[in-house]
Amino acid sequence: MTPSWRSLGPLLGATALLATAAAGGPPAPGSVVERGAVAFREGGCFSCHTIGKVGTPLGPDLSHIGSKYPAEYMARWLRDPALQRPNAHMPVLELTEAQVRVLAAYLESLE
Ligand code: HEC
Repeated sequence: MTPSWRSLGPLLGATALLATAAAGGPPAPGSVVERGAVAFREGGCFSCHTIGKVGTPLGPDLSHIGSKYPAEYMARWLRDPALQRPNAHMPVLELTEAQVRVLAAYLESLE
């Protein structure tokens, strides 16, 4: 049996992504994390959250959110905050599944 290298593709891609995120520094242009940073800005998240010195401290600061939750939790939270915490004050945001995924990857990179 020859291993299917094609099936390893996504796996290697994910590993490279994690390595980039762990190395800190600015995310590579066009990467999932970078697209998540754009979605964060364009999605209005800064109107209730801070990252570093940017944003409005209405909701919790998200500068180190990646060390608190895995991406999967973040994605669930973004799809419906009340599902994770019944008394959540954060509104359900109109996000596409693609936005949820890049946002979750971006948030996870914030350690
Ligand atoms: C209208 C204000 C508002 C907006 C807009 C908003 N949030 Fe929130 N968010 C909150 C509040 C308030 C909380 C605190 C938890 C709660 O009570 O809902 C929160 C919590 C969170 C948490 C969990 C933090 C923790 O420590 O548990 C994450 C992650 C998060 N928001 C991400 C986002 C992202 C990403 C966006 C943009 C797509 C966004 N939020 C937009 C108000 C907002």
